Amino acid sequence: MTLFPYIFALLLILSISVFLVWMKQSGHTNMKVPPGSCGWPVVGESFRYVSLGTQHFISEKRKKYSTDVFKTSIFGQKMAVFCGAQGNKFVFTKLITSWWPVTVKKILFSPEFSHTPLDETSAAMHRFVHEILKPEALKNYVPVMDAMAREHVESDWDGNEVVKVHPLSKKYTFELAYRLFVKEIDVEQVTRIFKHFALVTSGMFSVPINLPGTAYSRGVKGGKLIREELVKIIKKWRQEMMEKNETSPSYTDSLSRMLLVTDENGKFMSEKEMSNYIIALLIGSYESTSTAVSFVLKYLAELPHIYDEVYKELMEIAKSKREGELLTWEDIQKMRYSWNVVCESLRLMPPVQGGFREVVSDVSFSGFTIPKGYKASWTAYTTHKDPEYFPDPEKFDPSRYEGNGPAIYTYVPFGGGARMCCGKEYARLEVLVFIYNIVTRFRLEIINPQDKIVFHSFPIPMEGLPLRIIRHNI
Ligand code: HEM
Repeated sequence: MTLFPYIFALLLILSISVFLVWMKQSGHTNMKVPPGSCGWPVVGESFRYVSLGTQHFISEKRKKYSTDVFKTSIFGQKMAVFCGAQGNKFVFTKLITSWWPVTVKKILFSPEFSHTPLDETSAAMHRFVHEILKPEALKNYVPVMDAMAREHVESDWDGNEVVKVHPLSKKYTFELAYRLFVKEIDVEQVTRIFKHFALVTSGMFSVPINLPGTAYSRGVKGGKLIREELVKIIKKWRQEMMEKNETSPSYTDSLSRMLLVTDENGKFMSEKEMSNYIIALLIGSYESTSTAVSFVLKYLAELPHIYDEVYKELMEIAKSKREGELLTWEDIQKMRYSWNVVCESLRLMPPVQGGFREVVSDVSFSGFTIPKGYKASWTAYTTHKDPEYFPDPEKFDPSRYEGNGPAIYTYVPFGGGARMCCGKEYARLEVLVFIYNIVTRFRLEIINPQDKIVFHSFPIPMEGLPLRIIRHNI
């Protein structure tokens, strides 16, 4: 008896099984997945994504595949990128499970937390952040923000003819967040941690290769150093609080309130857990807000007619104050035109260009199926520059925010739905207080209109945005 038919049948079954497994893994089942390309095995299209930057990468893919949704593979994951107002709506309302690349979590979180599902981390983070971003707390931050902005302007702006705005606004927003969320004012320590943070932010969205000398490995090291410093500080506070037997801290002290946050079982957070959230909070708050501040100042320097209106509004508030009197929450409510200017700057140059989600069950969108296990992403850029929603989209026009403002899901600098930025109000206060302190003192002139802007995790002016500053004679 010949064995040939048996061997043939065995090989056939084996080939079919391998083919089916491959089909499942590569998503080539009879589902109509969005068009696109997943690039090379493992690295996918990560190199192209990092080298082109988010905006150019998305433009290229939309032209090639589909304007609504396309597939790609970045950060080692298959991903559906949703575009336009319908895409934003879909992600904000249907896909609410957060996702961050594990490579980013490895930088931000200590090893035992980097594999915790982000939803668990996110829920705890929310309880934690909620404590320090309550309206009562925010009201108390305004005079602190103003006092720190004054000090910053006196030490880093006054007496200079030219300033590099971007590094300075980063320094200011970092010191402020540190002062409000970490409280410790040891100048050497703040400077040291600020330097570690620079490593973290440049590592976060670099190509994730953890070999000596890469930006990614410097990011991992920076994150570890920051967490070590934070754990020491938290231990010290905890000790002090126990000694003083404090149970109801005041609203000006964010940290002691964070120390009292418990999980659903009433257990206090560990020092390590708290250090994870503080690092994420500092990253979320200082990079995005400093980018917002820098670009508002850039537009004010380029557009004197807009500057004049902002100056008029802010000087009215300045004139109503006594010598040395700090800004209050009520003053901020009067900065209506200035806020519209900030909104327009956030449209043209959104600091956060989108966000990621996890697809937890098969979902359908625009005639395609996005299989469970895919990651998803939304993008601000695909609506903010669409002439259908923003006529003459490149024009800087603060009147777009008067009346009802832009249509829902088209203006999304702070995201939307359940995952919308919880620091939006803090950011509004911080940006307006800073702009107030600059505009009421200086006129601004742009020095290099060609300063190149690169788009990675945040838009960055390559030359740091040098501006000529001219003191008002008042
Ligand atoms: C102009 C400044 C800011 C911008 C443009 C911005 C933008 C955003 C965006 C777009 C998201 C949503 C991401 C997504 O959909 O996945 C987000 C989330 C978040 N932001 Fe902000 N943000 C800013 C300032 C801040 C500040 C000052 C804080 C804290 C004090 C903060 C804390 C957070 C947190 C904790 C989340 C996560 C929310 C969640 O996952 O549920 N942000 N931010």
